[in-house]
This record gives sequence, structure tokens and C-alpha cells, in this order.
Amino acid sequence: MILVTKLYQFDDNFVQEAYIEDITITMKAIILKGQGGVDQLSMIELPVPEPGENEVLIKVNAISINPTDIYARQNPALNYIFNNEDPKILGWDVSGVIVALGDQVTDFYIGDAVFGLLNFPTHTTPGHAKAYAEYVVANKADIVLKPENVSHNEAAAAGMAALTTWQPLSRKPIKPGDRVLVTAAGGGVGHFAIQFARHFGAYVIALASGSKKELVMSLGANEFVDYQKTSFLDVIEPVDYVIEGLRDEHIEKTLRIVKKGGTLLSLWSHIEGSKWEKQAKELDIHAFYNAVVSSGKDMMAIAGLLKDGELKPHISKTFKLEEMALAHMEIEKNHTAGKIIVNPA
Ligand SMILES: NC(=O)c1ccc[n+]([C@@H]2O[C@H](COP(=O)([O-])OP(=O)(O)OC[C@H]3O[C@@H](n4cnc5c(N)ncnc54)[C@H](OP(=O)(O)O)[C@@H]3O)[C@@H](O)[C@H]2O)c1
Repeated sequence: MILVTKLYQFDDNFVQEAYIEDITITMKAIILKGQGGVDQLSMIELPVPEPGENEVLIKVNAISINPTDIYARQNPALNYIFNNEDPKILGWDVSGVIVALGDQVTDFYIGDAVFGLLNFPTHTTPGHAKAYAEYVVANKADIVLKPENVSHNEAAAAGMAALTTWQPLSRKPIKPGDRVLVTAAGGGVGHFAIQFARHFGAYVIALASGSKKELVMSLGANEFVDYQKTSFLDVIEPVDYVIEGLRDEHIEKTLRIVKKGGTLLSLWSHIEGSKWEKQAKELDIHAFYNAVVSSGKDMMAIAGLLKDGELKPHISKTFKLEEMALAHMEIEKNHTAGKIIVNPA
């Protein structure tokens, strides 16, 4: 059902007509038929969802694609995130315009441009945001107003990938002058991590392939190491902090470059109960894993940095909604520069 309002003008008089039309408006959405390859992604027509009392309905302009989308597509162990709902729709990062409001929403208006990381799951609780669609419902607590000088593509890019390191770094900031090593530095998370570390006054060493050198240096990195040509252990001085976006055995190496009393933030491998926890303790290093959470409050800080030009998302490729499989294949190459965006319209 939709409320239709029409405004007519007769000479100098305006007449407004309002009535309920019992029709279902549909939208294009990408569903996940089952967990597996990109052939499981399929575009279908679905009814546009209705916002609950604390929710808004967003017409989506841009969706950002993350490696998490790929894991969730492929890994049956992550089936819990969909909360047994049917159809399954991936996607959490969006930017768009509010077109309908729930009854309890007083802090946003129809027409507001907003962005955020919507309803992201934890390691134990579901989070089915259903962002691969022309319209998405968002909890008002997960979104923030998009600054006017920031495009929808840039805003969508600065959801999960920006929050992932903003959340731990803003709670316990890096000290000015700290030497910070960022691994996977040219990717979505890494290219924001460089900028946050610089924001807190750090000296930043970026580890990436040669193709990312220009990008990471333009974002403020002080040193660059091409991991395909050199072992960072041979060429860099010890660091105070590592932002580790790589997996398992790489942590064993990065722990060796952290100063006594320093910190290693792991974005992939869990530290608690692992062999790296033991290794870190022996070396007197604070090593910890941190998982990103949806938070409109944290998005507000990100929005401020975007507005002031302190945070610059880099978008290397864009795709149409019907090209979602291509966007996934691009992330799967594991050589993404900055962010990949999908535009429904
Ligand atoms: N903890 C959390 O809540 C959370 C949230 C989001 C993401 N993550 C994790 O953070 C990591 C990064 O995510 P992302 O979104 O930035 O991924 P991404 O955009 O796909 O970027 C991955 C980057 O890694 C680089 N890379 C690959 N192998 C490398 C190596 N051996 N050494 C250095 N760089 C290498 C790739 O480019 P080049 O090889 O060309 O340099 C690419 O730029 C992933 O493991 C992801 O799962 C964690």
C-alpha cells in the first residue's frame, strides 16, 4: 500500500488530493540463491521493503563491496547471518536518499542524503541488511547525514572499510610520532588506515604491491615497501603499532617488527587463544583482534573527516547492480586499490 499525494493548481488556488493505493511497488535486488560461487547471485524483482518504527527507507545510490561479502557468499558457516530469512540478500554499506520514515523517526527527514554500515552481524548474532537492492531499510542508529561535498560513491566507500580501523584507533589513539606499519595498505581498509594514522600524527609505513605505491604515498604514507620485491623485515626500523590486514602466518612476521610495549591490531586472525597470543606475550606486545560494528555515532566522526577533506576515499572501479558478479570477482583477485562500488541507478 502507498500513500499518493497530488497537487493541482486552478488559477491561483492549489488543491491537494491524498489517497491510499493498494499496489505493490517493486525493486531490483540481487539475491543469493545458495552459498557458493558468483553464479549464486541473481537479480530479481522484489517488493520494496517498508520501514519499521525506528527505521528509514533509503533509495540506494551506491553500495560498497567488501571481502566480507565474498566470505558470506562462499562460506556455509556464515549462514547464520541471514537469520533464516528468505530471500538472502548480501550487502551492508550504502549511501542514498531517504524516501520514507518509520513512526518514531524524528531526527531524519524525507530527502535527506545518508550513508552507513547497516545492521552488520557479529561473530554470533545475525545481521541481514539486504543492501544489494534499489531500496533498503536502515535502522536510524546506523546512519548519518552525507556531507554535501561528498559524493554517494565516496560516502558508501567510507562505511565498513573506514569504521574497521576508526573504531579501535579512536578509542585508543596512536600517539603523535608513533611509527605505524599498515599492511594490505592499498586496499579498502588499508587506504583509510593510513589516513587515520596520519590524522593522529603517526609516521606511516605502507606495505603493498608496487602498483599501489602512488596511491598510498598520495594518502600520506611516509615510507613504502613493495612486499613483492622486499621483505619489510629487512628494510624497516621497528615500529610502535601494526595495523595487520593480512592473515595468520603474516602476524608471526609483523610481531617481530613491533617494539617491546608496542601494539598489533589484527583485522583478520583472532589473537585470543592463538599461538600469536603466546608469541606476543613473550615479546611484551599488546596484540588484539577487533571486529567492526555498525554505529551511526562513529559514522558521524567519519562524516566530519570526509567533509573537511581529511579523509579521501579512493574508488578504483564502479559496476552496475546487474554486474554484481563482476564486482565480486574483482574483490576476489585480492589486489583491490581502495574501494569497489556498485550503483543500482
Ligand atoms: N575485523 C574486521 O571487522 C574487518 C572488517 C573489514 C575487513 N577486515 C579484513 O581486513 C582485511 C583487508 O580488507 P579490505 O577491505 O581492505 O580488502 P581489500 O580491499 O580486498 O584489499 C586487500 C589488499 O591487500 C593487498 N594484499 C594482498 N596480499 C598482500 C600481501 N601479501 N602484502 C600486502 N598487501 C597485500 C592487496 O593489494 P596488493 O597485493 O596489490 O597490494 C589489496 O589492496 C581483510 O582481511 C578483511 O577480511 C576485517
